[in-house]
Amino acid sequence: MNDKNTAKIIIVTGGAGFIGSAVIRELINQTEHSVINVDKLTYAGNLESLKTIDQNSRYTFEQVDICDALNIKRVLASYQPDIIMHLAAESHVDRSIYGPSEFIQTNIVGTYTLLEQARVYWNTLEGDKKANFRFHHISTDEVYGDLPHPDELSGHCEEQSDEAIHDAALPLFTEVTAYAPSSPYSASKAGSDHLVRAWQRTYGLPTLVTNCSNNYGPFHFPEKLIPLVILNALEGKPLPIYGKGNQIRDWLYVEDHARALIKVATEGRISQTYNIGGHNEKQNIEVVDVICEILSELAAIKNLKFKIKHYKDLKVFVKDRPGHDTRYAIDASKIQRELGWTPLETFESGIRKTVQWYLDNQAWCQHVQDGSYQRERLGETK
Ligand SMILES: NC(=O)c1ccc[n+]([C@@H]2O[C@H](COP(=O)([O-])OP(=O)(O)OC[C@H]3O[C@@H](n4cnc5c(N)ncnc54)[C@H](O)[C@@H]3O)[C@@H](O)[C@H]2O)c1
Repeated sequence: MNDKNTAKIIIVTGGAGFIGSAVIRELINQTEHSVINVDKLTYAGNLESLKTIDQNSRYTFEQVDICDALNIKRVLASYQPDIIMHLAAESHVDRSIYGPSEFIQTNIVGTYTLLEQARVYWNTLEGDKKANFRFHHISTDEVYGDLPHPDELSGHCEEQSDEAIHDAALPLFTEVTAYAPSSPYSASKAGSDHLVRAWQRTYGLPTLVTNCSNNYGPFHFPEKLIPLVILNALEGKPLPIYGKGNQIRDWLYVEDHARALIKVATEGRISQTYNIGGHNEKQNIEVVDVICEILSELAAIKNLKFKIKHYKDLKVFVKDRPGHDTRYAIDASKIQRELGWTPLETFESGIRKTVQWYLDNQAWCQHVQDGSYQRERLGETK
């Protein structure tokens, strides 16, 4: 029997990244499980995000590339995990447009390598250890492509209110939505999801897949929209808005995602997919405006090269991302119904905590940007 309360040995790949580090902090602080963090430490991985737990005796770090079959085999054989939570990936859409090769390598070849080594390891297990083993693959809602945008529909339904149009006509991604990825990033994640399901169907490897909406919160690398806007605003740099800024994302606070992932990994039904989302559909431009409002309250404008009255004056509209998806929105009713998970943060509470965290942790922001990335734009095609 799979007892969710028994202390387990959990391998987390990509544990030095944004979501992986939140999962590890939650596992160490809120459970009795032991964690082995398997991470290559690319530009996106930072062990400083784990400083609060890295002295805990239940935490171990292994600097390993998931494409390195021999080292993955060694790690599995020596730690004998009960669960693998697979988050390691190249994750930034703009980078995938600029240079797709790393995305194919890590997201597809890396996932294949991990699956094969997990299968070999799982076949060495016996009894309850074998019966209870789980491989949890963490993926994105971007594999589904995009959904109709309210702006496309409002022209056809002039007499109805915005809410009525939204409720009546706008679908959500469910676990059975067909895959239609738009970017090299989402296509590589879609490829990895298919591999995981194939390893379950063909070899019986006990797998689970989760597809989640956009995350935000502490320890987010400053190339992504929310941290980029906060840090640029504080330095009086332009706040770039792609196209009209009307793209809709369904935002989820990263710690809510981490709690959902641990629930799925320990209690989810084998072979199932669970969609995870925050019920927080916001246009990108609304997100930028909210951040500017909160910053105006928490951080007075000072010492900037250009005189501005409000952080919003820094907004600049730039050429849209090629193939930019217009709307993502998740139906998270399955995980709520089956596993009792719901997010604890609203967008309003989560974004306030996030802005405050960036104000309080400027040193972390400096350190993670000491390498090559300096918040320049990536991913424009000619
Ligand atoms: N960020 C989001 O909004 C979001 C939403 C849904 C799903 N996801 C998925 O969640 C996972 C984690 O996303 P994130 O935002 O934390 O990513 P991230 O880019 O912050 O972190 C990725 C981590 O993986 C590591 N890594 C990269 N290549 C590796 C390799 N070859 N071997 C070992 N480690 C490697 C990096 O060093 C880094 O620590 C990804 O699979 C992503 O597709 C992310």
